[in-house]
Amino acid sequence: MLHTGRESGAGHESHSAAVESGPDRATAIAHPNIALVKYWGKRDESLMLPVTDSLSMTVDIFPTVTTVSIDPQLRADTVIFGEEPAPEHIRARVTRFLDLIRELAGASGHAVVHTRNSVPTGAGLASSASGFAALALAAATAYGLRPDPTTLSRLARRGSGSACRSVHGGFALWHAGAGWGSDGDHSSYAEQLYTPEFDPAMVITVVDNRAKRISSRDAMHRTLSTSPLYLAWANTCAADIAGIRAALGCADLDTIGRIAEHNALGMHATMLAARPPIRYLSPKSVAVLDRILHLREQGLCVYATVDAGPNVVALCHDSDAVAVAAALGAAGEHIRTFIARPGPGAALVAGGGA
Ligand code: PMV
Repeated sequence: MLHTGRESGAGHESHSAAVESGPDRATAIAHPNIALVKYWGKRDESLMLPVTDSLSMTVDIFPTVTTVSIDPQLRADTVIFGEEPAPEHIRARVTRFLDLIRELAGASGHAVVHTRNSVPTGAGLASSASGFAALALAAATAYGLRPDPTTLSRLARRGSGSACRSVHGGFALWHAGAGWGSDGDHSSYAEQLYTPEFDPAMVITVVDNRAKRISSRDAMHRTLSTSPLYLAWANTCAADIAGIRAALGCADLDTIGRIAEHNALGMHATMLAARPPIRYLSPKSVAVLDRILHLREQGLCVYATVDAGPNVVALCHDSDAVAVAAALGAAGEHIRTFIARPGPGAALVAGGGA
């Protein structure tokens, strides 16, 4: 059973599809993660090695379910998104990723990849993170690899950097790692962070669900190569991670939120200073950011973070989430809100299918 995002004020939608499973076929589910200290910039674009460490929360909504079925008769991989064949650039990206898995497994057969996303694709809501975490687990299993979570995290990273954090449930820290080549590859993975009992929630606002005009990959590249602010921001990330780790240890949501907000806005500042500039924030994003500030002035513990898109995410206590969602939904026309809590890591779905 797969639950789509819980839209605040609306009930759960759900759907399921049972398919057979066999030795060359596997289905996996994974959820998006929202970074509190962002990953922005690669030191190696082909191995997906980041410049800085990052830290995120995996959420319990908007899962991706992916089935990989090996078919030796196929002459190329087939990729299906929902009911439709995926666009060629996505098929090519999936094939490059499957080539990596096939090389590790010493296998050669092509596969049918069937994937269902319940998050608006390309809207800055981390669909690539849940997508590549689910694909890494389903493909590795179908091709006979049995990766432990650290190895799976390294593999998912090669598909989309932030996917390495969706391998884990709850909070995860992605170590940038050190060095280049195989040293860099080996040392760059996400680890799960264990926290005391506490009640964080995220209110995800969708102000615009169209695919973004510039991909995070291109935007990162341009920021790193042209923004005079990039290094100043990157140099703050280690202290931000240390601060959030300490605050997670004592469930101090105010400190977590304050650091997450300045880290995210700092990342957007690096992009605004790129040449030509990259601006993901829209007037509606700014209206939501203003609302968050207003709620805070009224005494609520609520802070903002924003990925590479216009959709602002508010971090708050679970007990305040419904009120926060109502206030943010009223910040402008056609703003949808979804409430998320810490979610599970990537998992195989027994006998299930996308
Ligand atoms: O993994 P990518 O290429 O989708 O990059 C994600 C980058 C951000 O979402 C903006 C930040 C992050 O750490 O998730």
